Amino acid sequence: MDDLRIGSIKRKDKVTLSVNGKKIEAYQGETLLAALLAAGYKQLKRSPINHDPRGALCGMGVCFECIVTVNGIPNTRSCMTEVENNMEIKIDE
Ligand code: FES
Repeated sequence: MDDLRIGSIKRKDKVTLSVNGKKIEAYQGETLLAALLAAGYKQLKRSPINHDPRGALCGMGVCFECIVTVNGIPNTRSCMTEVENNMEIKIDE
């Protein structure tokens, strides 16, 4: 899981998230988007019009291509959300 992270960086404590019912690990201080990408989730939603797969584009809160459901709250920008232990994430697969 950690192969997309830079190994030499000292990280804070691990947290556990649930993504569509599957547990993944992340580190305190990471954005949810970083945690999802490191765990291999590139597709985060589907186009509301033609249902094409969509994924993060800007990584800084502008494009809204990274929206997911966090603890039951839909349309949450994962790039602007810091991970917390036991977060429940739903993405469109
Ligand atoms: S990646 Fe663009 S708003 Fe999150």
